[in-house]
Amino acid sequence: MKNVQDYIVQHKDRFINELIDLLKIPSVSADPAFSKDVLNTADVVKNSLEKAGCDKVEICETPGYPIIYGEKIIDPNLPTVLVYGHYDVQPADPIDLWTSPPFEPVIKKTDIHPEGAIFARGACDDKGQMYMHVKAMEYMTSTGNLPCNVKFMIEGEEEVGSESLAWFVPRNKEKLANDVILISDTGMIANDIPSITTGLRGLSYVEVEVTGPNRDLHSGLYGGAVANPINILTKMIASLHDENNHITIPGFYDNVEELSREERAEMAKAPFSLDKYKDALKIEDVHGEAGYTTNQRNSIRPTLDVNGIWGGYTGEGAKTVIASKAYAKISMRLVPNQEWRAITELFKNHFESIAPKSVTVKVTPHHGGQGYVTPIDNIAYKAASKAYTETFGKTPIPQRSGGSIPIVALFEQELKSKTILMGFGLDSDAIHSPNEHFGIWNYLKGIETIPYFYKYFTELSK
Ligand code: BES
Ligand code: MN
Ligand code: MN
Repeated sequence: MKNVQDYIVQHKDRFINELIDLLKIPSVSADPAFSKDVLNTADVVKNSLEKAGCDKVEICETPGYPIIYGEKIIDPNLPTVLVYGHYDVQPADPIDLWTSPPFEPVIKKTDIHPEGAIFARGACDDKGQMYMHVKAMEYMTSTGNLPCNVKFMIEGEEEVGSESLAWFVPRNKEKLANDVILISDTGMIANDIPSITTGLRGLSYVEVEVTGPNRDLHSGLYGGAVANPINILTKMIASLHDENNHITIPGFYDNVEELSREERAEMAKAPFSLDKYKDALKIEDVHGEAGYTTNQRNSIRPTLDVNGIWGGYTGEGAKTVIASKAYAKISMRLVPNQEWRAITELFKNHFESIAPKSVTVKVTPHHGGQGYVTPIDNIAYKAASKAYTETFGKTPIPQRSGGSIPIVALFEQELKSKTILMGFGLDSDAIHSPNEHFGIWNYLKGIETIPYFYKYFTELSK
């Protein structure tokens, strides 16, 4: 497959321009104001799959945003790869902190991306990474290098919990039947340190509401005599971690898988500089659970974080008031074996139990999902490893990620197949943050590496 590099050199400008066009459409799934744009993006993805050589492409309607399905079946006796990705993006807020508008993509050079990176919301998560697969498909079909069957399933609600996909998958098991699921929606350690993501954390997301008096009160007339819901909420939240930063919810750690000394030693081999980490974030020190390293804290250990907190007067100037209500959004990242619904229940019971009588507490579960660990002794991992070795000149390192793609566990449950996570983004690409970007080098390297996965997966399947 020597000609994959030539093909990329020849078509590079078009590959970049097509991605830029895709990034111009603000497909923000969280905000209904963008619903037309999300639907337009679905059309663009559909057309791109047709052009890439899929024989059958459909826009599958769901209770929410549509799922784009495409396939090319060359021989039912050959293996089938199912590619998953998402065409929706996170909201761009806070827009003021972007150095260029989030939906007007520009190419800029950075220290880490000397060949330039495309700056736009969704550049890395996940439009850029999803589109690598479309372009790899184009290469394979137009040069006679497609060795097996391919199916695409691209959804538009990943950033809001994949509800419609969870509805779609069990209803379309036959259509989606496959031998392996291939996803590029994660990252790697560095451009000269390729890695394959072998784990994703689960998630439980809840919202809490603390109510004190039935109305906002004058803080002079009532202060000190009735519960202030904001004081109480912050105290309750603070009590969720002890002095070692362990989570205090009874039973929270019951099913947490403890890694063996060997597994921890294997993890510690991944290159990591704490100084560089701190410097990149401009922090004097890190913070986390006692007894664990930074890389363990952000991958194999569960966490609890407040994502937002509000209540009372936050406008200009001062207002002396005791608010009637205070709120917070809280996420818990979970590790394999922690059942997310059970953890949500533990949280709810605990949070209600620690509330003083002077307030009432309401806990509303949002969404969640199970964590996932991919095996490294199967042919999918071996094929991916060989593919990276071919194009990076180095064997990739297996690495567990702290992020979540909750739908992956459901794929395994419903479709009985394993997922391989070939991510080409970097942690510094600022996904979900202002100034998200994706290196041109990474984009093209992904397009180059993916066809080798197909080749080796097909060979190893024989
Ligand atoms: N692509 C990310 C997940 C990710 C990024 C995993 C980098 C590993 C490395 C995905 O789009 C995402 O943002 N997932 C959400 C969960 C979802 C339910 C909103 C997350 O992890 O917060
Ligand atoms: Mn993503
Ligand atoms: Mn995301």
